[in-house]
Amino acid sequence: MEVKPLKYKSLPGLSERQLAEHHDVLYAGYVKKYNEIIEKIQTVNLDESNGTYSELRELFVERNFALNGIKLHESYFDNMSDKPTKLEGTIKTLIEKRWGSVEKWREEFMALGIAARGWVVLAFDYNLNSLENYIYDMHNQGGVADTELVLVMDVYEHAYFLDYATARKDYIAKFMEVIDWDVVNKRVAHQAN
Ligand SMILES: [Fe+2]
Repeated sequence: MEVKPLKYKSLPGLSERQLAEHHDVLYAGYVKKYNEIIEKIQTVNLDESNGTYSELRELFVERNFALNGIKLHESYFDNMSDKPTKLEGTIKTLIEKRWGSVEKWREEFMALGIAARGWVVLAFDYNLNSLENYIYDMHNQGGVADTELVLVMDVYEHAYFLDYATARKDYIAKFMEVIDWDVVNKRVAHQAN
C-alpha cells in the first residue's frame, strides 16, 4: 500500500503545519505499519494461534487498526477541499430522505463530533438502505458492517490541536465549511435513482 498525496497544502481553517503533521507523519505511519504487518503475516506460525496471546492474533488485530486508519484518513483528506463546493444533487436527496432536512442531519453530525472519540462517519448502510451517522472511538472500534464511507470527519485531537488547542467545536464548524461535496456526491452516485 502507498501513501496517497494531499490535494491541497492548506485549507481555510486548517494550516499547512497541522495538515502536514496529520498526513505526512500520522497517516503515512499507518501505511508503513500496515505494509510491515502484511509482510509478517506471510511467515507467522499458524500452529501457535491463541485467543489470549499469539503473534497471529496480534497481527490480525493490528492489521484492522492500521487498515481502517488508512481508509478513514484517505476518505477524510479526500472529502475536504480548498475550493468551495455546494451541497446539492444525490447527497442532498439522500440526506433529506433520512433526516427530513439538511439542517437536521448537520445538527446531529456536528453534535456527534463532540460525542465521538475518534471519527464521525456519514455512511450508506446497505441493510437499512439509507444514510446513517455512525461514530468510531478508535479506527477499529465502532465500525458497522456492510456500510460505505460517504463523509468522514476526524475528531482525534491530533486532527486539530495545533490550530485549535482544545476548541474542538470551532474545528468542527470549520470542517463543515471545507467539505468537498463533489467528492461526497461521487461516493453516492450509484445510489441515485
Ligand atoms: Fe487522524
